[in-house]
Amino acid sequence: MLKATERLSRLVDQLLELSQFESGAIRIARQDFLVSQIIEDAAAEVRPVNTDVHIVAEVDNGLVGAGDPERIHEVLTNLLTNAVRHSPAGGEVKVRGAPMPGCVRIEVSDEGTGVPPDDIERIFDRFYRVDAARRSGAGGAGLGLAIAPPIVELHGGSIRAESQKPTGCRIVFDLPS
Ligand SMILES: Nc1ncnc2c1ncn2[C@@H]1O[C@H](COP(=O)(O)OP(=O)(O)O)[C@@H](O)[C@H]1O
Ligand SMILES: [Mg+2]
Repeated sequence: MLKATERLSRLVDQLLELSQFESGAIRIARQDFLVSQIIEDAAAEVRPVNTDVHIVAEVDNGLVGAGDPERIHEVLTNLLTNAVRHSPAGGEVKVRGAPMPGCVRIEVSDEGTGVPPDDIERIFDRFYRVDAARRSGAGGAGLGLAIAPPIVELHGGSIRAESQKPTGCRIVFDLPS
């Protein structure tokens, strides 16, 4: 009962948030933040979701990002939650932060089954879930990734998903600095 209520509550929150993005009602703060801090906070929050998976952070010391720390935290927890859920037991999830010309690049990669090539363009669509994810009964309503592009784009950045070799999924986003 409690689980069902929590799920419903999360669904309502996510739908509300998406519609706020669509109506242009969301303003993005712009402040400097320590990338290592935001990554560590998100990793600490997601670790209990799957304690069989190691989340490893690799961030350049002192790297500073610009934007809305709460929103970026939200993107990161969504990406990390997906990554640990799709990881094999004993798997490793890497979250990296690195400077690039004109931006900060943040990426989350895992050693899970990855996303079939035919689906990779669509995983950011609202309600879209790959068949295997739907069958597993785990995860949410397919809204976690839908929230990420609007947040990153309001920062003037971009986000993309890639399959990794030999296995796994990698999601990369760039935030202008
Ligand atoms: N790291 C990942 N590895 C494999 N598949 C993924 C990963 N992240 C997302 N996906 C796929 O993208 C779909 C959409 O993700 P999301 O919007 O977070 O929805 P949900 O987590 O509620 O299923 C997932 O259902 C899953 O099929
Ligand atoms: Mg998700």
